[in-house]
Amino acid sequence: MKIFLDTANLQEIKEAAATGLIDGVTTNPSLVAKESRSFHEILKEVCTLVDGSVSAEVIATDFEGMMKEAQPLAAIHKNITIKVPLTPDGLRACKALAKEGKKVNVTLCFSASQALLAAKAGATFISPFVGRLDDISENGMNLIKDIVHIYKNYGFKTEVLAASIRHPMHVVEAALAGAHVSTMPYKVFQMLFKHPLTDKGLEQFLADAKKAKN
Ligand code: G3P
Repeated sequence: MKIFLDTANLQEIKEAAATGLIDGVTTNPSLVAKESRSFHEILKEVCTLVDGSVSAEVIATDFEGMMKEAQPLAAIHKNITIKVPLTPDGLRACKALAKEGKKVNVTLCFSASQALLAAKAGATFISPFVGRLDDISENGMNLIKDIVHIYKNYGFKTEVLAASIRHPMHVVEAALAGAHVSTMPYKVFQMLFKHPLTDKGLEQFLADAKKAKN
């Protein structure tokens, strides 16, 4: 499973990329709004830090507006993936952009029927929001399982990108369900490394190493 970072914070991306384990980055307007630099500046720099898909979301809601916004975004770097919302206009833009050879991430997916349409529109990635479904007492991970199943049934090439990931178990469950990608906040990525027995075991080894004869 690929690991993407869900942030527009360059410091976080730099630190995570240094591990050599980051396969891509997803941004959205809410994440970009937290940063002081411009959207295009951020994207340019992210593409120098991570050699993989970098999602850049359009804010137009109509087909023409999305197509217009997508062009300069895609021109920033070959790894830019245009992110469009799961609406009729968004899927129309997805199909047109895919036809032009551009990568597209269809976002704000909350149902399997929506995911089926996104695959038919030629999406590179579908982004089901796991955490936001859990927030309203639905089971976000069941949606991931259903989409993986449906895509397998028909051999769709669209990759399932588990988004709105809130904790390490979401990552593990997405991997068990066969999601191609999980995108997560830096904090969750850091948590993936942690286990108290690793810390305890290392402490013991280091203490014993001091006692060992040279
Ligand atoms: O990028 C979309 C998604 O990952 C947002 O997550 O935590 O705002 O629901 P969240």
